Amino acid sequence: MKFKKRTHNCGELRISNVDDKVVLNGWVDNRRDLGGVIFIDLRDRYGITQIVFEPTYNGDAHELGKSLRGEFVISIEGKVRKRPPETDNSKIPTGHVDVMVDKLVILNEAETTPFQIKDNVDVSEDIRLKYRYLDLRREKMKNNMLLRHQMYQSVRKFFSIKEFVEIETPVLMKSTPEGARDFLVPSRINKSKFYALPQSPQTYKQLLMVSGFDRYFQIVKCFRDEDLRADRQPEFTQIDVEMSFVDTEDVFEIVEQLMSNLFKDVNGHELKLPIPRFTYEEAMEKYGSDKPDLRFDLEMVTLNEAVKNTEFKVFKDASANGGIVTGLLAKGCGDFTRNQLDVLTEFVKKLGAGGLIWMRVKEEGLEAPIAKFLSDEEKQSIIDSLNAKPGDLIFILAGKKYSTLSIMGSLRLEMARRLELIKPDAEPALLWVTDFPLLEWDDETQRYYAMHHPFTSPRVEDIELMETDPGKVKARAYDLVLDGNEIAGGSIRIHDSKLQAKMFKALGISKEEAEEKFGFLMNAFKYGAPPHGGIAFGFDRLAMLFAGEDSIRDVIAFPKTASGTSLMDDSPSYVSEEQLRDLHIKLR
Ligand code: AMO
Repeated sequence: MKFKKRTHNCGELRISNVDDKVVLNGWVDNRRDLGGVIFIDLRDRYGITQIVFEPTYNGDAHELGKSLRGEFVISIEGKVRKRPPETDNSKIPTGHVDVMVDKLVILNEAETTPFQIKDNVDVSEDIRLKYRYLDLRREKMKNNMLLRHQMYQSVRKFFSIKEFVEIETPVLMKSTPEGARDFLVPSRINKSKFYALPQSPQTYKQLLMVSGFDRYFQIVKCFRDEDLRADRQPEFTQIDVEMSFVDTEDVFEIVEQLMSNLFKDVNGHELKLPIPRFTYEEAMEKYGSDKPDLRFDLEMVTLNEAVKNTEFKVFKDASANGGIVTGLLAKGCGDFTRNQLDVLTEFVKKLGAGGLIWMRVKEEGLEAPIAKFLSDEEKQSIIDSLNAKPGDLIFILAGKKYSTLSIMGSLRLEMARRLELIKPDAEPALLWVTDFPLLEWDDETQRYYAMHHPFTSPRVEDIELMETDPGKVKARAYDLVLDGNEIAGGSIRIHDSKLQAKMFKALGISKEEAEEKFGFLMNAFKYGAPPHGGIAFGFDRLAMLFAGEDSIRDVIAFPKTASGTSLMDDSPSYVSEEQLRDLHIKLR
């Protein structure tokens, strides 16, 4: 080794080190030449220390120092001094000292980097991803990785203390039914057969309960071939949890403790417990979303009752067909211009609404294009239901229940954005959403799908409905929502093969298909399966929210782009004919 072992890192030196002889290693962050004296900010993971090359102090070192450029990797020996008052910098912990360089060793030179290694530099995400290793040198990205590390440790410690066992599950497995497409891996040894990468370890964690492990967790990679967004990656990380002999309340209790612990560990925040709960129905009717953002008040109100005697066709048709009339009150927005209202109308139309009904609340009543179709009594009823005051603006949508609610939910978010209702220092808004429907009807394929997955237990009191009115059955499923993001989802599982058979039947899965796909799990349930349930967190989403980022890509060291590629190593990529031949694959 031609350089000495470092005595300190670049974030360590303080006034108490003045006159110490030290060795530092790091990257040249910034250089300033001032009248022959060279000042360099030397950077490593721990911080920045100013080092000084002065011709009168050490001529040789100063001469070599002249050749230093940004991102050169160097080792220096020198003496710590108290900074002269004009360069004292109390903004950084090392800012009261610098190091007079006695000796410089250049460990590696660096070409000019494609972008500056500093925060808030204007550079496209594609370039950042192509040179991710440089992007990760930036303070903000580095801190995101360190935060993620801290979160892993906090989670692992918490679960270990609570006697959960971390067990790894296979990455090469049989396809699991989580609703997305699988990534497949061809088997060379088993011609024509494929492994699937786990969409989640769902079946394995249930099997571990059959094995008697009682409490399991794992920080685990999951893979889903789905359309990507800011909060979705093809490979992402879950904190996966499963527990035996539990009911919903037991899962909630553990999760609430975990969250409270995490908030305390990571940002010193005291979380208010218990976490509020909303049923799916409530969340949809009040916020138009199954992952409502509760950092602001804006609530929707169902107006079916208020307009029950209406002659206005839009309301009448909606009510007659089991649909909904939903209203949103925008306080103090009565002076929105026609143009603003047109823009909002376009906004909801793009989402599929026929149009947007709006009404200005005046001292003398409602002023609206549709006012003439409503009786005085109806108008008053709408005002009362929404608790509207003069100066307010009312929006109303009518139509099919859930799609209409969800459009109004988007308008709610849009209004919050326009009115800047989400304050940067808003308290974190956590909530449970419970009582999801067990099944979701799909018009296109004319069949039911499991809203969560096929192992989710129906509410006991709804089991009978599974054959008579499957759409009405509620599941023992729950999601955890933070600031409008679904950060976790889980359920109490079916552990009884008869009920499982009923579920498959409701899903239109034949006995043979069930046997072929899930036979191994059903079989395991024949040998004494405990009642069990669990949950899985989207770890990247959680890290994104803790880091205050808008995309999970910013908390993942090497993420994929929105089109599923890695710009850095250029994957996915073509493979050789030989590799394909080994795998018995012919490309069309
Ligand atoms: P679920 O499919 O709801 O449940 O996933 C759990 C959580 O994982 C996160 N998540 C994702 N994060 C990033 N990119 C993705 N593509 C992605 N997909 C999901 C979400 C979600 O809440 N096995 C069940 C859990 C259980 O029932 O215990 C499961 O995987 O934050």
